[in-house]
Amino acid sequence: MKLFVIGATGRTGQEIVEQALPRGHEVTAFVRSPEKITSRNERLTVLKGDTMDENQLFEAIQNHDAVFSTLGPREVFKPSSLLHDSALATTRAMKHSGVKRLLVLSAAAHFPGIPNRIVSFILRNHMRDSLRMEDVVKGSGLDWTIARPPRLTQGNYTTYRSREGAAPKMGFSLARKAVAAFMLDAIEQKKHFQKIVGIAK
Ligand SMILES: NC(=O)c1ccc[n+]([C@@H]2O[C@H](COP(=O)([O-])OP(=O)(O)OC[C@H]3O[C@@H](n4cnc5c(N)ncnc54)[C@H](OP(=O)(O)O)[C@@H]3O)[C@@H](O)[C@H]2O)c1
Repeated sequence: MKLFVIGATGRTGQEIVEQALPRGHEVTAFVRSPEKITSRNERLTVLKGDTMDENQLFEAIQNHDAVFSTLGPREVFKPSSLLHDSALATTRAMKHSGVKRLLVLSAAAHFPGIPNRIVSFILRNHMRDSLRMEDVVKGSGLDWTIARPPRLTQGNYTTYRSREGAAPKMGFSLARKAVAAFMLDAIEQKKHFQKIVGIAK
């Protein structure tokens, strides 16, 4: 498949790129800092662009089979509208160009429960933006999947548990490699259409 990755220079985005290529996919990495991508592969295209610019996204996204977004603010405590604004531009560009499949990275802190409420309070600026992003995605009419992992780690494994509409029981962390594997599996296996999916170790 031809995959479009927003946030490809981030820790999860890099994992998507690294795992997608050996799975045989073509990948377009849409990034603000192309120099950060050091991998070279004939099936990898790196495009410099603004993830909040609907017109740039429209030009770049055409003819792809699916779009991934693994954006995250570099400063999580500051007010930001990065996720919301990018989701709006991305979903509009996708509708305009006829690309329907969208996978986005969100957070398990949006599920109910006291620990999640504490995390949501501490990271309230980021979580507010993340929820607004989810609302845009859910209202887009696209074939979206929202992945909600708990604390992300640099663990070296790709296995995960997943559950539609809720967090897997007693799942407190997940490796970014496993998040990437889940997102790629969802695309390849045509699963979790218009679902919020809790994922964990
Ligand atoms: N950390 C956790 O424990 C945790 C837990 C659950 C969910 N999450 C979610 O996971 C996401 C972060 O994942 P991660 O750790 O893989 O991210 P990350 O390594 O921090 O990477 C963030 C990505 O977003 C890009 N980015 C940031 N600001 C941008 C801007 N203004 N314009 C364009 N691109 C921008 C970065 O590009 P540059 O490289 O150019 O800066 C980078 O590609 C967050 O949305 C968060 O809610 C995190």
